[in-house]
Amino acid sequence: MEEHLVINGGRRLEGTVTVKGAKNAALPVMAATLLAAGECTLRRVPDLQDVAVMTDVIRSLGIKVERSNSTLHVCPGAATSPEVPAVLMRQLRASNLVMGPLLGRYHYFRVPYPGGCAIGSRPMDLHLKGFRALGAEITESQGYIEARTTGLQGTSIYLDFPSVGATENLIMAAVMAEGVTILHNTAREPEIVDLQNFLNGMGARIEGAGQDTIRIEGVRELKGTDYEIIPDRIEAGTFLAAAAGTGGDVFVKDCRAEHILAVLAKLTEMGARVIIKRDGVRLQGPARLKAVDCKTLPYPGFPTDMQPQLMALMTVADGTSVLVESIFENRFKHAAELRRLGADIKIEGRVAVINGVPRLSGGPVEASDLRAGAALVIAGLMASGQTRVEGIAHLDRGYEQLEVRLSSLGADIRRLKAGER
Ligand code: EPZ
Repeated sequence: MEEHLVINGGRRLEGTVTVKGAKNAALPVMAATLLAAGECTLRRVPDLQDVAVMTDVIRSLGIKVERSNSTLHVCPGAATSPEVPAVLMRQLRASNLVMGPLLGRYHYFRVPYPGGCAIGSRPMDLHLKGFRALGAEITESQGYIEARTTGLQGTSIYLDFPSVGATENLIMAAVMAEGVTILHNTAREPEIVDLQNFLNGMGARIEGAGQDTIRIEGVRELKGTDYEIIPDRIEAGTFLAAAAGTGGDVFVKDCRAEHILAVLAKLTEMGARVIIKRDGVRLQGPARLKAVDCKTLPYPGFPTDMQPQLMALMTVADGTSVLVESIFENRFKHAAELRRLGADIKIEGRVAVINGVPRLSGGPVEASDLRAGAALVIAGLMASGQTRVEGIAHLDRGYEQLEVRLSSLGADIRRLKAGER
């Protein structure tokens, strides 16, 4: 038995918690440092397992990376090897974000297919289609993808789906291409705006990130720069959901309300009181949440990464909720675990129907992925009695010291080593 969390539920969360840097901005920005001819300093980089693996990925390519607290110093090495070790690619899907910069700057890459994921097949067809449109020759054999080009030519690319990763990879491939590239039907997440701002700080010429059309004018070289990562909107949303579910009163410092308007609207619809301040968001939870309907959508719609956390809240809301997961085909694994705590949930394909019960009761559950783990922690905080959450390595991928920070808000939650009771 590995490390696990033990939660004694039923306590209101109160106080202030500060949001760390955004995992899903730090990962593409770290990949983008491969494009820099000089040293980069990245600030507010969260101390997470996913960031540690991405650090190893770019080190394996010959780049030097030093961390001091939440700052990374990244220095380009003499030679960059364009091959990522398979063991690293399998640990982190987001390591596929090195494809764009390697192709863009070194005109070559050879990477293994990244590890599968608990939430769906997660193909990369849109990434590869875009690379081919820019002039790369792609071959796939023995589980490896190889790309080469004599030089990338700017072009117009239409994304069949506003894929976050494909948008990021194609921006990074196009920044040093010959001429202008226009990406259509792009993802609009704030993390893509962060990547644009970081690259423009290096001398790139990109405009339109955050909208559905992005224009990239190729430049010859990109220099190093000093950049601060945006706060993590999903971590912020997770703390706000925990406050809403425990009838608490929590101020999430550094949360940018404009990055999670869909989440704030949904929590308000459920009866929470949201107070937007200059330096964060305060949320007061109601005595009992109201049932709502929700469908996950590409940004600025309700984020799929908050779907499990919302489902946890719906399990004890007053009434019946309908929750549709339209982004990933297999992202309801947390429903079975919530049922073990007494939730009444019916799943039909991408639709979940949740009949709210008065109270969950604690018990043993296991996280299947990062956000499912967050949902089970929220359920444990709300449940009567004790909940043990196994599989917390998933949580450590995306939340820094979650149990410590929840304890500071008054939760009775502890991390136990393997075998400890
Ligand atoms: C990013 O993943 C995030 N990860 C995910 O967060 C997030 O859930 C997802 O975007 C959606 O918002 C990072 O940013 C590191 P996509 P990504 O490409 O880029 C399909 C977390 O919890 N698709 O937008 O992999 C794909 O199968 C993680 O932090 C293709 O079909 O997501 C999926 O159904 C989980 N072909 C949908 O698009 C492609 O070539 C969305 O995928 C690419 C994607």
